Amino acid sequence: DKGNHRHFMEKEIHEQPEVISHTLSHYIDFAERTTKSDAIPFDFANLDRIAISACGTAYLAGLVSKYWFERLARLPVDIDIASEFRYREMPLSKRSAALFVSQSGETADTLASLRYCRQQGVAIGAIVNVQESTIARESDGIFPTLAGPEIGVASTKAFTCQLSVLASLALRAAKERGTISAEEEKAHVRALTEAPRYTSQVLKLEQQVEKVARELTHYKHVLYLGRDTNYPLAMEGALKLKEISYIHAEGYAAGELKHGPIALIDENMPVIVIAPHDHIFDKTVSNMQEVAARGGKIILITDRKGAERAGIDTLETIVMPDVPQFVAPIVYALPIQMLAYYTAVFMGTDVDQPRNLAKSVTVE
Ligand code: M6R
Repeated sequence: DKGNHRHFMEKEIHEQPEVISHTLSHYIDFAERTTKSDAIPFDFANLDRIAISACGTAYLAGLVSKYWFERLARLPVDIDIASEFRYREMPLSKRSAALFVSQSGETADTLASLRYCRQQGVAIGAIVNVQESTIARESDGIFPTLAGPEIGVASTKAFTCQLSVLASLALRAAKERGTISAEEEKAHVRALTEAPRYTSQVLKLEQQVEKVARELTHYKHVLYLGRDTNYPLAMEGALKLKEISYIHAEGYAAGELKHGPIALIDENMPVIVIAPHDHIFDKTVSNMQEVAARGGKIILITDRKGAERAGIDTLETIVMPDVPQFVAPIVYALPIQMLAYYTAVFMGTDVDQPRNLAKSVTVE
């Protein structure tokens, strides 16, 4: 049932404040401001690596978490697209654990990667939305995302719930490995606790996002740029846009711009830059200057400080609420989902059932 919404995707975008909160309550003790310790099949303190594999949007959630695990828990992460991982015969030590991320829990390549890890004898955890799925059944431990059924082919609420679980796990890992102080842990937990509220604030930016979406319908190609955790988000924005609006889009690490894609920049390819005012903001600003100097049209997604300091003419600047850097990926996922959604609506495509795509990819 779509309720008052035109599409399941729109409904699922709007459910995010609630389902993120529900998912977090499984992992976070809000009163004690700490992560819950139960149901973790591996001892983070004794691990020397984690291997994560997944497909599509789930892979991009895993890629965001690499920054979290490495930065907070000093735990190296190998992250792969499952269709590559399953064939590349990666050596896994006994001190590795494997994590699989999947909304459906039935994705063929992700399941095959899990079975490879089973043969290698490493502990296996699964972040799944469908708890009765094959991937869930074949894992040593399940980390559920409590997003509820996701009907739209384009993944939205499952993605932000995957991020919420991964953020909680990274915090837990940091605690067990003694790489963050009790103070820092509390601050990060507080940030996570506020994430649902931030996402509801972002939903109110609807009109401005619609305006940008209307503009995007005039183009054939769109480039998304970001650094750090905004790099996987840039790829997620591009994936979402291409899958439902059929506009060609690419997501790049902003620092890679001058290693090739800058050759494409002209007034016919808008560039969407995801850049909250963080430790690496100035670097992204120089990339924006390079784009502007070549006549590229910039759509900047940033916060108040970023908007003040960018000093660049943009086609549009979407000003997001001020959020702690740790939870920014969860919050910044929304404007890119909304942008893809409205663009597809204006293009008149079948938003919930885009051509050539299936919700669950059970064949290779
Ligand atoms: O069910 P899964 O999470 O394993 O599915 C993985 C991908 O097929 C999925 O995320 C796909 O990329 C989405 N359509 C993206 O919106």
